[in-house]
Amino acid sequence: MSENGTAEPLKFAYWVPNVSGGLVTSTIDQRTDWGFDYNKELAIRAERAGFDYALTQVRYMASYGAEYQHESSSFSLALLLVTERLKVIAAVHPGLWHPGVLAKLGATADHLSGGRFAVNVVSGWFKGEFTALGEPWLEHDERYRRSEEFIRALRGIWTQDDFTFAGDFYRFRNFSLKPKPLNTAERPHPEIFQGGNSTAARRMAGRVSDWYFSNGKDFNGVVEQLADVNAAAQANGRTVRFGLNGFVIARDTEAEARETLREIIAKADRPAVRGFRDAVTQAGASTSDSKGMWAGSSFDDLVQYNDGFRTRLIGTPEQVARRIVAYKRLGVDLLLLGFLHYHEEIDYFGRHVLPFIRELEADRSELAHIGAGHS
Ligand SMILES: Cc1cc2nc3c(=O)[nH]c(=O)nc-3n(C[C@H](O)[C@H](O)[C@H](O)COP(=O)(O)O)c2cc1C
Repeated sequence: MSENGTAEPLKFAYWVPNVSGGLVTSTIDQRTDWGFDYNKELAIRAERAGFDYALTQVRYMASYGAEYQHESSSFSLALLLVTERLKVIAAVHPGLWHPGVLAKLGATADHLSGGRFAVNVVSGWFKGEFTALGEPWLEHDERYRRSEEFIRALRGIWTQDDFTFAGDFYRFRNFSLKPKPLNTAERPHPEIFQGGNSTAARRMAGRVSDWYFSNGKDFNGVVEQLADVNAAAQANGRTVRFGLNGFVIARDTEAEARETLREIIAKADRPAVRGFRDAVTQAGASTSDSKGMWAGSSFDDLVQYNDGFRTRLIGTPEQVARRIVAYKRLGVDLLLLGFLHYHEEIDYFGRHVLPFIRELEADRSELAHIGAGHS
């Protein structure tokens, strides 16, 4: 269990809808928009509702229901400039960014935002995107070797002068970044998150990442990953914090919430979901341990493309709150959430679900009770 699992209040992040089509690949009516005006308003609402982080997505090409996309680092910076407390995590691909260039961007973004910039290092699943951009598509575990060097370089540049590094993918000689990013009471430099659930991803988290993001999972799936990630971290004398993805459908009645899920799946954009399934299967095919993201996903799971239904945050505010606190009991530090109609549902979450969670967190006997008996 993570050290922070029960002591600190849970943190909350939301997926920024900076690609079109929303967070579900479905033709169901969605009042979510991928444009800046909508997202600016959303970030302000999220901060007001009690969210700590926003996570942008990176995609460069129309694909699988995402016809249009705003670039993640520039969009993250724009959101930082219209908010006051929200930390914004920019998704970045090693292989498409030079770590020195990203480190420079990160330092400037951190100064412009008073120390609220963060990155999510994603190793990639979309071969067609790399091919279209004329970049080589590495084999799965090689992508992680490159990501690890990328993170080591980023952290080195952010904390050391005369940074020198001779890797297989990146090289630096006496490189000094000025200014460095801010060193705040909360963290010494922008936090480094990572996406990916394979064995290679778990080991990399243990060695170099501050945060590990899991795709949507039930309790057993979370326990299984936490054991691996914490063991990998301990072997390196480190701790890694754990964030879990979940798609929230909180409604006044459980029946209403379930009906919304049914409708999302019934109206799935089937060709897009199938195309996505084929692409991610190809991306993980070189690993044989079946632990990577999407390894056991059904068609219905993939309608939320990060397996967000599997976390089952679907029901009344009380049901959703109790389930979230049960995840905390297992060692989850942060919930990364997606919604169908973002503006309205972020407000609803802040008004009806979050206060319940805070109450449950404060009541330690309740916490113990919730943790028991779940599978
Ligand atoms: C929280 C989270 C966010 C992600 N965001 C992106 C993204 O914006 N763009 C992208 O190409 N991949 C993204 N990925 C996917 C990763 O690039 C990678 O393909 C995936 O984690 C599979 O890795 P695995 O085989 O190690 O499980 C994300 C993954 C997670 C967990």
